[in-house]
Amino acid sequence: MPILRRFQSRVKFFKASEYMQPKAEVQNLKHMRTSHLVEPNLVGKHTLHACKRLVERILTHKEEKAYKVGIVGTGGVGKTTLAQKIYNAENLKGAFSNQAWICVSRDYSDITLLKELLRNFGVHHEQGETLGELSSKLAAVVWGKSFFRVLDDVWEPEVWTNVLRTPLHAAAAGVILVTTRHDAVAHATGVEDPHQVDSMSAEVGWELLWKSMNISDERDVEDLRNIGLDIIRKCGGLPLAIKVTARVLATKDKTDNAWRKFINRSAWSVGNLPTELRGALYLSYDDLPHHLKQCFLYCALYPEDSTMSRDDLVMLWVAEGFIEEQHGQLLEETAEEYYYELIHRNLLQPDGIYFDHMRCKMHDLLRQLACYLSREEASQIILEN
Ligand SMILES: Nc1ncnc2c1ncn2[C@@H]1O[C@H](COP(=O)(O)OP(=O)(O)OP(=O)(O)O)[C@@H](O)[C@H]1O
Ligand SMILES: [Mg+2]
Repeated sequence: MPILRRFQSRVKFFKASEYMQPKAEVQNLKHMRTSHLVEPNLVGKHTLHACKRLVERILTHKEEKAYKVGIVGTGGVGKTTLAQKIYNAENLKGAFSNQAWICVSRDYSDITLLKELLRNFGVHHEQGETLGELSSKLAAVVWGKSFFRVLDDVWEPEVWTNVLRTPLHAAAAGVILVTTRHDAVAHATGVEDPHQVDSMSAEVGWELLWKSMNISDERDVEDLRNIGLDIIRKCGGLPLAIKVTARVLATKDKTDNAWRKFINRSAWSVGNLPTELRGALYLSYDDLPHHLKQCFLYCALYPEDSTMSRDDLVMLWVAEGFIEEQHGQLLEETAEEYYYELIHRNLLQPDGIYFDHMRCKMHDLLRQLACYLSREEASQIILEN
């Protein structure tokens, strides 16, 4: 119960703070260039083949005006990961005069988007410029140039049709790679034949599971294979679910028995959650010790896709009283340990360009889980009172 009480009280703080300013003002908080976050344990020939094919397609059409390529698939299936692999492909380097990554998200704002694009082209905007002014400025900047843009996590085709199409058509040539959960969004944006990312086969998922657990002994890989494959099926072949499960399993013995116990846990079938949050994602939360649960839920106060700084979180968690005292250690030091534990459990994703994982993000589905659980707890409190 105290988790949510505190959580709700902090909503007031966040509402009053920069994190909850109108959409147009949050652009500095969203770290839009997340292209460097390439998965260290990339698995599956499918992913590599898809990457190769899509890079070829991009290069074939690089002289066209605003050619679109699309990647579609359910949440957590690997669209952003594939787009990152493409974005970092060696043969794309130097193919366009300007290349950048933009994380669009559900709550994008037209102004933020245009400002971000201008920034990509090295232009700084004045305060208070209107949408029309920003759009004209962008059109003038891209004139005669060629560009490659990844628009990651697009929820509405209007991002293209209403905001970016007109200014970007001024460029001599350009390719836009769109990732979205919805086929209809890809088509309405003008993508022909989007690439569909499917959930992983049991074998590929198993490879991701043991690699994410750093299992290096071939005998272990062979001995645990059958139960491992069952676990992958329980995860629905979803790489995000497999990665969080890997960290939960890493705390168990590496035996068939211990893993079978894990697979039979009742938390797999908690029924009152939205389908996409059930099973492995919920279990990874359920497995957390109480103090980490509070810290995890707290992160959902940040808007979707924002970058969170370790030092801010440490300060806020300490102020909330989430940190348990440990003999001979400052609360801030313990809070830092909590931060790294959440990263280790794949519940927060470190931002690779920062030294020491000083900044991180929360995957959208995990944030949804945290929001959902907080709301559930709120209803519980209301009922109890
Ligand atoms: N081929 C892969 N090999 C290894 N890990 C992968 C692979 N594909 C995805 N992952 C991992 O799965 C997790 C989810 O992937 P990703 O963020 O790309 O999903 P997404 O489809 O973009 O989800 P969303 O729709 O919520 O944006 C990430 O932690 C990523 O590292
Ligand atoms: Mg994504």
